[in-house]
Amino acid sequence: MADLSVRLGPLHLRNPFVAASGCFGYGLEYSGSIDLASLGGVAVKGLFMTEREGHPPPRIVETPGGMLNAIGLQGIGVHRFVAEKLPELHRIGATVIVNICGSTLDEYAEVARVLSDAEGVAALELNISCPNIKEGGIQFGCSLSGTHDVVSAIRKVTTLPVIPKLTPNVTDVASFARAAEDAGADAISLVNTFLAMAIDVETRRPKLSNVMGGLSGPAIRPIAVRMVWECHQAVKLPILGMGGIATLSDALEFIIAGASAVQVGTANFVNPFLWRGLIDGLDGYLDRHRIARVTDLVGQLDVQDRSLV
Ligand SMILES: Cc1cc2nc3c(=O)[nH]c(=O)nc-3n(C[C@H](O)[C@H](O)[C@H](O)COP(=O)(O)O)c2cc1C
Repeated sequence: MADLSVRLGPLHLRNPFVAASGCFGYGLEYSGSIDLASLGGVAVKGLFMTEREGHPPPRIVETPGGMLNAIGLQGIGVHRFVAEKLPELHRIGATVIVNICGSTLDEYAEVARVLSDAEGVAALELNISCPNIKEGGIQFGCSLSGTHDVVSAIRKVTTLPVIPKLTPNVTDVASFARAAEDAGADAISLVNTFLAMAIDVETRRPKLSNVMGGLSGPAIRPIAVRMVWECHQAVKLPILGMGGIATLSDALEFIIAGASAVQVGTANFVNPFLWRGLIDGLDGYLDRHRIARVTDLVGQLDVQDRSLV
């Protein structure tokens, strides 16, 4: 049995497979069918200070090799999460990564403070990359100074591991990774969804109520792998990579490109039972390649004889 455990700075995961935010509810919805403690971690749906309804339907559209969503960060708010969900997640031994949101820097810091005082939170993932809301979020994540400011503000109020989640909707993602590193992040996660839209040609109406949404799923995977590789070259921070992972081979691409751990989002809607196959499959792969620890595989891309122009 290979060592599947990974460290992302101060965050310890029993294996590199984490359920991605927004695609796994608050985790407990799946606890009847999946042992949440067997996952590397569970990144819960993004939380603001207060409850939000999100956008009206239609807010999901299937596309070739993926989906568009414009949920608009519907959520129960941080206080209800701490009171109603966190104790049970903690009791069953899940490694809980809380995805946090804010319309202002103060709100991000306040949500972080509430979670820092609660028992059972393993890390904070900062959602500065949601393409579906007007205020906060991506406005911070699309600006280098905004990224720096959110990470610094949260760094000041918590000792929990701080993991900003980067947007792919920028030209040079590596510079955002550097801004996060300079501001004191413990790790980075990438990618969030790609800003996109779909049109009903008969009605000439946008298919989503919000007009635009975020593209996820296998269609984005090669771009996400490239971005993980670019960030791995640019910073020392550990990386949680994601974007279209549905199979072990997909996950391995991210790990070899430089991700210490991976998240699975959209594929969970297709097959919520994919986790055991990923975990056992990784063990088998490492065994077959005589690699003792998954961490020995991180960033092992061999680019010899391949030239970058
Ligand atoms: C329906 C839906 C809801 C999402 N909600 C969130 C969210 O609340 N916070 C966040 O940071 N990312 C959210 N995401 C983005 C995913 O966590 C992930 O970054 C993205 O979908 C790419 O991974 P995937 O292709 O495996 O889904 C959401 C994605 C989907 C499809």
